[in-house]
Formats: sequence, C-alpha cells, structure tokens
Amino acid sequence: MSQTTQRTHPVWMLVNGQPVERDVEPRMLLTDFLREQLGLTGTHVGCEHGVCGACTVMIDGDSVRACLTLAVSANGAQIETVESLGSPQALSPLQAAFREHHGLQCGFCTPGMLATCTDALQKYPLRTEHEIRDALSGNLCRCTGYQGSVEAVKSCVAKRDAVSAGASSLLNTRDSHS
Ligand code: FES
Ligand code: FES
Repeated sequence: MSQTTQRTHPVWMLVNGQPVERDVEPRMLLTDFLREQLGLTGTHVGCEHGVCGACTVMIDGDSVRACLTLAVSANGAQIETVESLGSPQALSPLQAAFREHHGLQCGFCTPGMLATCTDALQKYPLRTEHEIRDALSGNLCRCTGYQGSVEAVKSCVAKRDAVSAGASSLLNTRDSHS
C-alpha cells in the first residue's frame, strides 16, 4: 500500500508579542492555527466563509478574517488576538466600554467585534452614529441589537478625541514658548 507524505511548511509569526514557530500543512486556516496549535481559543469560528466576522483578528495592524487566511500566508506577520487586549482583572478601555454599555451578551461575536473596533478607532474619525454602524456592519451579532456596541464605540471615540486634542494643545503651547 502506498503511503501519502503530508507536506508541511515552516511558519514564523509574532502572536500577541510572542514569537511562534511551527510546521503547518499548506491548507491550515489561521483560525485553526490560532485555536488548535496555539490554544488561543478567544478567536471564534462561526460561518467559516467570511460572512459573520467572529474570527476577525488584527494582522499587521489591519482587521482580517482569520477563517479566510491560510496560516502559511501569515508567515512573518504580527498577529493580535483578543487575548492581547486585556484580562478579566484588567480590561482594556475598549473591553471596559463594551461592558459598561452592554455591548455584549453571549460574547460569541465579541472577539471579532473588538478587533474590528480597534481597527476602526485607529483609522477612522467615527464622528457619526452612521459611520460607527458602517464600521461594525461586517460583524454579525445575534444578541445585542448593536445599540450597546455603538454606544461603547462612541464613548471610546470621545476619549480618543479628547486625548488627541490635549496632545495637540500641549504641542501648540510648547511651540508658542519656543
Ligand atoms: Fe470567519 Fe465567520 S468565521 S467570517
Ligand atoms: Fe451574542 Fe453578539 S453578543 S452574538
């Protein structure tokens, strides 16, 4: 009987700040790599074809569907999963906002929702509710009706903008004294 030899490829990634090196099958999805090889089960798997957003993680600073990404194609990338954000004892500001504004119930969509919000808060003004809803529209939530998630993002936008306004007024003060 002939034996099939399974080819594997070496991959190296920085996952949540830790270097990770493994040999993986070419067809292995990033979701399976994170959950099964690294034990990072905070990344959830819903539809497995790019629709629900539950599997969203940050890859090199962008929110990406891990169920549509092969582990080999993430070779050399910097990946952040929900485990990098905070802990139950020390929630990140975004996680704390979701808790405060009831942006989650069962929590299944939450890791992906947080990755999407992190990306959007870094890249977009999000000054209107429409803009926030648009940013969240690729993440399906069957529990909350989205209002709490929108309120959580609004509160983070307000804090983000207050911090950047404070930083620019500090810079202006320094410039006027130099
Ligand atoms: Fe990836 Fe649904 S599991 S988008
Ligand atoms: Fe249950 Fe979003 S909190 S699916």
